[in-house]
Amino acid sequence: MKGIVLAGGSGTRMHPSTLATSKQLLAVYDKPMVYHPLSVLMLTGIREILIISTPSSLPALRTLLGDGSSLGLEISYAEQAEPKGIAEAFIIGADYIGNESSALILGDNVFHGAGFPKLLCTARENLDGCTLFGYPVSDPERYGIGETDADGRLVSIEEKPLKPRSDNAITGLYFYDPDVVEIARQLTPSFRGELEITDVNQAYLKQGRAQLIRLGRGYTWLDAGTHDSLLAASQYVQVIEKRQGVRVACLEEIALRMGYIDAEHCHNLGAGMKNSEYGRYLMQVAQSVA
Ligand code: G1P
Repeated sequence: MKGIVLAGGSGTRMHPSTLATSKQLLAVYDKPMVYHPLSVLMLTGIREILIISTPSSLPALRTLLGDGSSLGLEISYAEQAEPKGIAEAFIIGADYIGNESSALILGDNVFHGAGFPKLLCTARENLDGCTLFGYPVSDPERYGIGETDADGRLVSIEEKPLKPRSDNAITGLYFYDPDVVEIARQLTPSFRGELEITDVNQAYLKQGRAQLIRLGRGYTWLDAGTHDSLLAASQYVQVIEKRQGVRVACLEEIALRMGYIDAEHCHNLGAGMKNSEYGRYLMQVAQSVA
């Protein structure tokens, strides 16, 4: 399975903070926002990842993450020249995906919860068509919404409905079989002029091949794409990290625990930024497993 992080968009909702940098490089408390979606892909066991972003944001993302080898990953980059919709990721990434299944995650989505890695790996193994992840929200009109029947089967998907039929938001994490590329190619742009991910999901639903996994209580899903939600996400991460002494979405630690890098390498990565608590944490983690 290939991974795609869509870190595009001009971040206009966060001007002036995003006039000179990309939204996905802003900090969620102690690390760049893009670490969060990357951590989700890593926890799904994905090591080949394509980052799609704007021409102006790509250089800084490359500086931050390079080719991924220091995390035991293979990271590639592609441009989305204009914000033409989430589903365009599959057209841009068509050659990259080839005949494989793929997991797409939006660059401002933050997930956290006990058992999440297992849930992700099971969803990956059981993928048949598309798998979506639902999360109850108090403001469903802001999201893609999935309605389920009494047996929990998905019956409708609507993008930002004025009158939502459920409070079950479709999060910005999507697993697809290889058909997604062809489905995306056949889409027509919406009234916003965008290729909508909801239209992709509706195509799978029509074929009876769309599953919804509901992330219930015990999971946290936040998008950090506005000033308020970024602050909320930062506070959430700060509370967990300070209270438990662990780090959320710490890519180096995940790479170490997944066996992609060894303790010495993890220690060296920490030593390279030892003036920060994050760097010192990496050195500690490396020591604890050595
Ligand atoms: C997009 C999708 C929407 C989804 C949301 C999750 O909306 O179109 O279906 O629920 O991401 O973050 P956007 O945030 O681009 O408005």
